[in-house]
Formats: sequence, structure tokens, C-alpha cells
Amino acid sequence: MRVPQLPAELHTSERPSSTAQWTTLGRALELERPRGRRIVSDEYAPVFLSPLSRTVLAPLRLSIPLVQLAERHPLAGVSASALCRHRFIDEHLRAALADAEVAQVLILGAGYDSRAYRFADELAGRPVHEVDLPPLSRRKAQIVAEHPACFIGNAITRVEIDFRTESLADRLTQSGFVVGARTFVVWEGVSMYLTRAAVTDTLGTLGGLCGAGSTVAMDFWYRLDGMAPGRQVRRLGARAIALIGEPVTFGVAPTDVAALLRVHGFEVFDLVRSHELAARYSTGGRPCEESIYVLAARH
Ligand SMILES: C[S@@+](CC[C@H](N)C(=O)[O-])C[C@H]1O[C@@H](n2cnc3c(N)ncnc32)[C@H](O)[C@@H]1O
Repeated sequence: MRVPQLPAELHTSERPSSTAQWTTLGRALELERPRGRRIVSDEYAPVFLSPLSRTVLAPLRLSIPLVQLAERHPLAGVSASALCRHRFIDEHLRAALADAEVAQVLILGAGYDSRAYRFADELAGRPVHEVDLPPLSRRKAQIVAEHPACFIGNAITRVEIDFRTESLADRLTQSGFVVGARTFVVWEGVSMYLTRAAVTDTLGTLGGLCGAGSTVAMDFWYRLDGMAPGRQVRRLGARAIALIGEPVTFGVAPTDVAALLRVHGFEVFDLVRSHELAARYSTGGRPCEESIYVLAARH
């Protein structure tokens, strides 16, 4: 009998990220809700789904009332958190693009982010630099190329990198990123999968490359201490993600994050923890996961 193998660790394999599929699957599932009751509305998400994700989506679609009931449980908050952080970043992006001095958008660990298309009108031709590991970046480019009628053009630059081992500054300057220009940076769902050194190096690089008035919008994970059963289950959940080859390796408490960003020239102006995140954007009584928070910081 063939024993099923667990996926290899992301950085040492040639496969695109599974967590990027998860977040995209969540956005695709959200389309099952009426438009007015969605946290985000990403019509491009289904196009990026892998055969496995499509197989998972089909029964979920058939059991929507049950799924929606399960999503109200406090321990299922990761799915609403992923949607609410996406919405949070959308709102900050929209506000930033109203500023004519914002010259470019940089999306780090872009996954199947479709903002380059969803915000095509607001971008008005301003370039979007999408940065990710090569296997994901290439798969996304292939899907976009196969659906020319769906992905109607904005100026997108695809930048392949491993944040842990390569220089973001070198890769961006080779790819036409304008150093010193006012930039909106999206760094969503990535910091928790990196080393502390990779996170601080990347923030340092952003501090050096982005012009005054630039914004970084991102999320962080942090470890919740305590022996309460909910806390233990959350810690176990964070550890279990290692089974799909994408271990959680970095966290910083919301009380410490402003200092981390300030070192690199960014001042936090909007930090939103789980309860407020749910209050701002969630629908259908879905709570957000306590160990995830979002922030926007200005350079
Ligand atoms: C959870 S996914 C988030 C994707 C997307 N930002 C979203 O929210 O849907 C994490 C992303 O980070 C990328 N990533 C992880 N480690 C990376 C690294 N060392 N260098 C570059 N990208 C990385 C993965 O390929 C993946 O696309």
C-alpha cells in the first residue's frame, strides 16, 4: 500500500504555496454569499484554484448552511481573519490610491492576490510589482496568460524571490521598481512563515527603498500564552500548519510591533486586533482569530 506523503517544506520544494491556495479558496467560497454580505468580493479567486482546491470547494458549496454555522465558532476564526485582513488592506489601498503621489504598488508574497485587476480603475496605470517564490509566481503567470479575457491589463511586474536568501533591493531595482517613490506595500499572510531575520531585513529594505509618505499594510501572528483550552488548541493549530510544509516561524505581540517597525522608519497609524477587525468588516457573526492582527504604517 502506498503511504500518502506530507508536502515537502515550501522553501526546499518546487511546489507553489498551499497556504496561498487556502486563502484563495476562502475568497472563492465567500462568493457564495450575497454581495452585500461578503467581507471581500474577489471574482478572480476561482480562476486560481488548483484541482485539489476545486475538489474541496464543491462539497463546501453544497453544505453552505453548515459551513456558515461552523464559521461562527471562535476556533474557526482563521477563515474570517484571512478575509477581514484582505478587506482591511483593500480599504487602505483604496485610500492610498486617491493620493496622486502614490506612484506604485508593491505586493510581497503576493500569492493569488488579484488587486492589480480588482483595483485597475483606481490604479490608473500605476505599476504593481508582485513578489513571490518562483513556483507560485510562475503558476500565477501561466494562469493569467491562459485567461487573457479575464485579466485585463494593468502594468504588472512579476518578481521572483526567496526573502530568506535573496536581496529584495537587488531584485526590485532590476525589475523597474522606482526607488524613493511613494509606494503602497502589501505584505499579507507572509511574515509568520519567515524567519525573524527575513522579516527585519525586508522591513529594512522597504525603509531604504520606499519614499516618504509610503504605506505598509500587513498582518502579524503572535503566540497566545496560557493554559485555557482555547489557547492550547490555537497553539496546536499554529504548529499543525507545519504538516503542510509551511510552519509558522515568526510572531510578534501587538504591544511590541510599533517598536519593530519604527526601527525601519515606519510609524503605525492603524493597528486592529481580532475583535475590532471582526467588528469593522465581518458578516454573519463570524469572529476573527485572536492570534492574528493587522496594521498600516507610514514611512
Ligand atoms: C499565506 S500565502 C499569502 C498569499 C497572499 N498574500 C494572500 O494573502 O492570499 C503566503 C505567501 O508567501 C509566499 N512566501 C512564503 N515564503 C516566502 C519567501 N521566503 N519568499 C517569498 N515569498 C514567500 C508564498 O509563496 C505565498 O504566496
